[in-house]
Amino acid sequence: LLLGVLLSPFLVECHLKTLKYRSDTSQFPPNFLLGTSSSSYQYEGAYMADGKGLSNWDVFTHEQGTIADGTNGDIAADQYHRYLEDIDLMASMGVNSYRFSISWARILPKGKYGAVNLAGIDYYNKLIDVLLLKEIQPFPTLVHYDIPQDLEDRYGGWLSPKSQEDLEYFADVCFQNFGDRVKFWVTFNEPNVFAIQAYRFGRYPPSHCSKGFGNCTTGNSETEPFIAAHNMILAHAAVVNLYRTKYKKQQGGQIGLTVQDLWFEPKSNSTADKLATERAHAFLSNWFLDPVILGKYPTEMKDILGSTLPEFSKNDLVKLQSSLDFIGLNYYAAFYVEDCMFSTCPAIPGASRTEGFIKQTTQKDGIPLGEPTGMPYFHAYPEGLEKMVTYLKERFNNTPIIITENGYCDDSNSTSTIEESVNDIKRVKFQASYLDALSTAIRKGADVRGYFLWSLLDNFEWTFGYTKRYGLYYVDQVTLERTPKLSATWFRNFIAENIRAE
Ligand code: NOJ
Repeated sequence: LLLGVLLSPFLVECHLKTLKYRSDTSQFPPNFLLGTSSSSYQYEGAYMADGKGLSNWDVFTHEQGTIADGTNGDIAADQYHRYLEDIDLMASMGVNSYRFSISWARILPKGKYGAVNLAGIDYYNKLIDVLLLKEIQPFPTLVHYDIPQDLEDRYGGWLSPKSQEDLEYFADVCFQNFGDRVKFWVTFNEPNVFAIQAYRFGRYPPSHCSKGFGNCTTGNSETEPFIAAHNMILAHAAVVNLYRTKYKKQQGGQIGLTVQDLWFEPKSNSTADKLATERAHAFLSNWFLDPVILGKYPTEMKDILGSTLPEFSKNDLVKLQSSLDFIGLNYYAAFYVEDCMFSTCPAIPGASRTEGFIKQTTQKDGIPLGEPTGMPYFHAYPEGLEKMVTYLKERFNNTPIIITENGYCDDSNSTSTIEESVNDIKRVKFQASYLDALSTAIRKGADVRGYFLWSLLDNFEWTFGYTKRYGLYYVDQVTLERTPKLSATWFRNFIAENIRAE
């Protein structure tokens, strides 16, 4: 046994070397950001600690039937109390950056209608300082799905234009308190996914949808996603404008927006399916990227939605155009797309006007696109990352891109033991192929500045609770002990070979 324990790190190294899960990433530019990604609600726990207010997710997860395993993020990975240990884990892998989000309710329990919670400021100050001490760049997001519940109760959260001023106020507090040490900011994480899940299907708080779309008691799936999105887009522009006019000169940071994008392949060579594929991009991510880069909603959306899509005023347009320094891209999966506008698709909820009359499938002639993962419908398709990045490069005139999330959910779940989870060779294989695909895109000229792997730790996966594991480190649900998986060793080796400082 002793011999086994002594030899195991050596065996792991050999294993990884023989398996050749190494990527040709010689094209990564100097100062490329390599790190892991997280979010406040999924990691921090401490949901009532030190003056924090309740967030929309605190309230939602405490309602019966909202989360698959009946759990919540009250404790999560307890990073609020274990950040020192977690930073040590990151430092031991050699990452040069850490993506986390700042819990709005921890800083401003009542938004701009109440006082700043100094204990919250203190927590993020310590987190940022220790990260920097270990030469890890802090890479914070302002809104990663969680907002103070008070704003939901007070004026209906993102459905009200008041949310724009509120986010601007929160951003101001963050820039003032942390901006001297933060060089990269993200306003929103996946507002496109949030708008759809929260207001079309009612699966995220505030659980709004129309009859037939989900289990809601209120809402309108045909209009509310677009109203909420419009407010988020304008809130983003307001925050960027604030940063550029009040802080940029002194603090010198960059600010971006993160969307989730899927790679879409037309299911056939027909023009109808090709047009449907473009509509799929329009209704998923260009919905947000076009306004903040090009200053307008995608034509494909306008054509279908007409006056359902809110209008930007002249003043909005001035603020919107080029209102980001980088696109944050979360990439996980790929789908085939079939047209449901010019031809009739079988009756499926997806074939609706609000989604652009498309149908997404994972198979063509019985052959799947990519490999199934532990996430329902999410097929891992590494080539899709290269194609995705190239698509964004071409559409947005080579705007810098940072991969803010890319990860692999394997088959282990909340009941899996350490032994069952740590030998995650599939994760290693996929992460290595994704990084290969990314480096091909860079070699072909895409301006990609960083890559964050989702995720450092197993954590709270929203409506799936703890039933899904994405971590490089296994987290024991009871003791919260962190144990490195094979992928943590692989990532350490990968970083050692690929990080170059200027
Ligand atoms: C995207 C989200 O930003 C993150 O919160 C989530 O855990 C991962 N995808 C994995 O599903």
